[in-house]
Amino acid sequence: MQLTHFQLLVAGLFVFAPSVAVAQNWYDTCQSTLPYVSGGYLYATCTTDSGTESSTALNLDACVANYGGQLACAADGDFTASCDSASCELAAEDISVMECYCENGSGSEVASLVDLDSCISNDNGILSCY
Ligand SMILES: *[C@@H]1O[C@H](CO)[C@@H](O)[C@H](O)[C@H]1NC(C)=O
Repeated sequence: MQLTHFQLLVAGLFVFAPSVAVAQNWYDTCQSTLPYVSGGYLYATCTTDSGTESSTALNLDACVANYGGQLACAADGDFTASCDSASCELAAEDISVMECYCENGSGSEVASLVDLDSCISNDNGILSCY
């Protein structure tokens, strides 16, 4: 996470250009309850711009792809088509990282990770990506 401050700076540069989506760093403002994934969705409670808490969910098929057994952030990635969504969970050691078992293109399911902080943001209390 050495790039965190750089990423925050870049995000800040785009605050007044909302059409340019910089989608990342959801986890910093979504920790009041323990986030979790279920059925291909990410569930969290996130802070709004006015400081209240908002329960929110995001369909991760809009944010994550499976490339031959390797998860990655990608718009409309539809990863649940080739991953076992029931196997997905947030990593205990880094809750912004999702782990799933995904098909690797030759009939095997392999474990893979993706850092959701790279593609998901807290948009005024609503989880979003892309
Ligand atoms: C998929 O995983 C299996 C078992 O680990 C391996 O034998 C195979 O080479 C992998 N295929 C690809 C395309 O990585």
